[in-house]
Amino acid sequence: MTIKTHALRAFLLAGAASALVAGAARADGEVNIYSYRQPDLIAPLLDEFTKETGISTNVLFLDKGLVERITAEGANSPADVILTVDISRLTEAKDGGVTQAVTDETVNKEIPAQYRDPDGNWFGLTTRGRVVYASKERVSDTDITYEELADPKWKGKICIRDGQHSYNIGLFASMIAHHGADYTETWLKGLKNNLAKKPDGGDRDQAKAILAGECDIALGNSYYVGLMMTNEKEPEQKEWAAAIKVLFPNAKDRGTHVNISGMALAKNAPNRDNALKLMQFLGSADAQKIYAEKVYEYPVAPGAEPSDVVKGFGALKADPLPLADIAANRKTASELVDKVGLNEGPEM
Ligand SMILES: [Fe+2]
Repeated sequence: MTIKTHALRAFLLAGAASALVAGAARADGEVNIYSYRQPDLIAPLLDEFTKETGISTNVLFLDKGLVERITAEGANSPADVILTVDISRLTEAKDGGVTQAVTDETVNKEIPAQYRDPDGNWFGLTTRGRVVYASKERVSDTDITYEELADPKWKGKICIRDGQHSYNIGLFASMIAHHGADYTETWLKGLKNNLAKKPDGGDRDQAKAILAGECDIALGNSYYVGLMMTNEKEPEQKEWAAAIKVLFPNAKDRGTHVNISGMALAKNAPNRDNALKLMQFLGSADAQKIYAEKVYEYPVAPGAEPSDVVKGFGALKADPLPLADIAANRKTASELVDKVGLNEGPEM
């Protein structure tokens, strides 16, 4: 990874701003990216971008505090493009005032309206289904709905991660968008009472718990199954993946809840033109293909295909509700999680 070959530089937190300022001042053929996404994940995309455009990329990787940081940097912030996962973080960036609106014909053509902010402050690049992981051994059902997760037939059989995690909040917000808050509250109570144990761990841990026989079904994001299946660093994850099948909830009716990874143009982007070129590139067929192959997500571009691994899960029919409408219910969803005591686990 040299600056010459693909100009990806992952800066440490300390001193990063000054390094980026120096970079931005030195040449106009650059774009500065503030990213919650891991550097090794976006490197293949940025390599290809530089190859196609000659524009070099500087990456500041953060695991938290992106909005606060850009706010603190103010008008002199070197940030051009923000990359992140989850509608919650994209909404936070917009609401935190660190983005600006983009009206770009190319970008709008590449990314369906359902997956972008109506004001142009954020754009989805990939989608991921919030699917059901079901025990191959113990679950014969081939389809399921989110609504059925509250059915007492699953009592003691369901595992989930923290109810306040943004992945779950996104799903619960979509339940509110479809059914209203009252229904969702009752549904969450049913889900809570079907839990095998207190919400805990990450999505992959739920597959692990299914393998261990602690529960029969779980909620998890689709790409983790691909990541587990192909994990050479921790091969035991292949066994977790082998214990489960992916069921796409509501495939036969209103569609499976999806969340996005996405991008935004930073408020004071010093390299605005290059930033727009990067945004156009990330929505392009070339970049969408890289996303699909490397991270097992679904490309947002209409007609773009997921990877073969992901195709093996079956077809995703995504909930057609605009993500902005779902996101509007996040606060209520979070309040309901507390109100029903979801994280306390099942009542015995
Ligand atoms: Fe994730």
